[in-house]
Amino acid sequence: MPSAADPLDAALAALGPAPLDDARLRAHVWPLFARVLARSAQRVYLANHSLGRPLDAMDADVREGLAAWYADLGGAWSAWMAEHDAHRARLARLLGAARPDTVVPRTSAAQGLRAVLNSADAPLRVVATRGEFDSLDVVLREYANRGRARLDLVEPDGDGEFHAEAIVRAIVPGTGLVVLSQVMFQSGQVLPELGAIVAHAHRAGARVLLDVYHALGVLPVDVAALGVDFAVGGAYKYLRGGPGACFLYVAPAVLDAGVRTLDIGWFAKEAPFAYARPDPPRLAAGGDAWLESTPPVLTWYQARSGQRFTLGTGVARLREHCRAHHENADKQAADAVAQRLDHFAVLHTSTDQQAHLGARQHPGQHAEHQQAHHHRDQAVFFDGSVANQQRTAHAVGQWQRNLRRAPDHLDEFFTNDHAAHGDQDLLEVLAVHRPHDEALKCQAHGTGHCHGHQHGGQHGHHVAP
Ligand SMILES: Cc1ncc(COP(=O)(O)O)c(C=O)c1O
Repeated sequence: MPSAADPLDAALAALGPAPLDDARLRAHVWPLFARVLARSAQRVYLANHSLGRPLDAMDADVREGLAAWYADLGGAWSAWMAEHDAHRARLARLLGAARPDTVVPRTSAAQGLRAVLNSADAPLRVVATRGEFDSLDVVLREYANRGRARLDLVEPDGDGEFHAEAIVRAIVPGTGLVVLSQVMFQSGQVLPELGAIVAHAHRAGARVLLDVYHALGVLPVDVAALGVDFAVGGAYKYLRGGPGACFLYVAPAVLDAGVRTLDIGWFAKEAPFAYARPDPPRLAAGGDAWLESTPPVLTWYQARSGQRFTLGTGVARLREHCRAHHENADKQAADAVAQRLDHFAVLHTSTDQQAHLGARQHPGQHAEHQQAHHHRDQAVFFDGSVANQQRTAHAVGQWQRNLRRAPDHLDEFFTNDHAAHGDQDLLEVLAVHRPHDEALKCQAHGTGHCHGHQHGGQHGHHVAP
């Protein structure tokens, strides 16, 4: 475990509890990202709503996991399992989960969904939105195509927005599972009236799986207050923990009801290292009964610094800082352009990791521009050079109003102090579409988070995960 004197603890202590401001971020937070900022001095990274930036501390954390192996060989499992527990505990805090064992590490969000589908002994009738991330969508469709689930997809309206009424209408007696995203990944729409949808699903006898991948780390998430039965997510984006550190949350009530999944392995046994084989197998208590086989251990170390940073900084405070920047936006010309760039979609990250951005036209808007630019329905790529980005962003800003913004102002702030002085606010980011902030007030916890809105599938470009 990190010592109390480590740079991350020291920086968080120096940051103090007050609302964030640029001077304190610059003094205390930037140095935590020195490595990645050094490499991006001439670039503006706009894909932080996809692959988040790593903290410098991640390197040492991963080395710590490896060092245990070099030093202790098989004995490393004590250190690794301690990190496993700590990883689950940190995620539980981020999720608002009552108990760490309710968080079951997985290497993808889709694995979490599969475990839930495989907790039923008969095909489940599933309601999902058309806007779920590809990874969950493809699993649901395969299950449906092979007769292992029945799938009802809820469509967005003509503007690409999903509405609670449409979702509620689709949930009927016999629905077993409802799969929803708290924040729609393509648009940033915060799903409205989530608490009411969950309550309706429960009345109809259905359980709810919430995909929080595009919310966690950006918006305060509280799975207990929302009353969801399951949640899936991962560290790739706003938790700055890279690929593979994903999870499934299983609510205590579901565990207490004895719900189990077929997707288990020997780590789900009561005493895995006893190598006993009673029949039927005796599984561990609580969420440990959902564990799988020999897990990848380094992902827990890889995810540690991002989790600690997010917990220490506070998601609500980060969110507030983003909002404050946006509220000042009209004072600055560049940010006025940013105001029009509602939705950036990152289409491709080249091998040298310069961000290439794509913008797309909202299907129902800006007809006046439809003849004006041949890129209207296409991706508009930014080539990673600040000057070009600025020009392109201005050009895009004339007609593209539904571009997804990278959600994390903090990351953009890092970048902007380097080459991008003039773009400081242009490149500001907000995870959740501003008009949807209101939706949060309808949710159980009343804390603020957001994202943008979903756009029609006919314009569906490939979007980086
Ligand atoms: C909303 C959402 N869910 C899930 C994922 C990823 O799913 P998986 O871990 O199965 O690849 C992403 C993107 O990375 C996402 O945006």
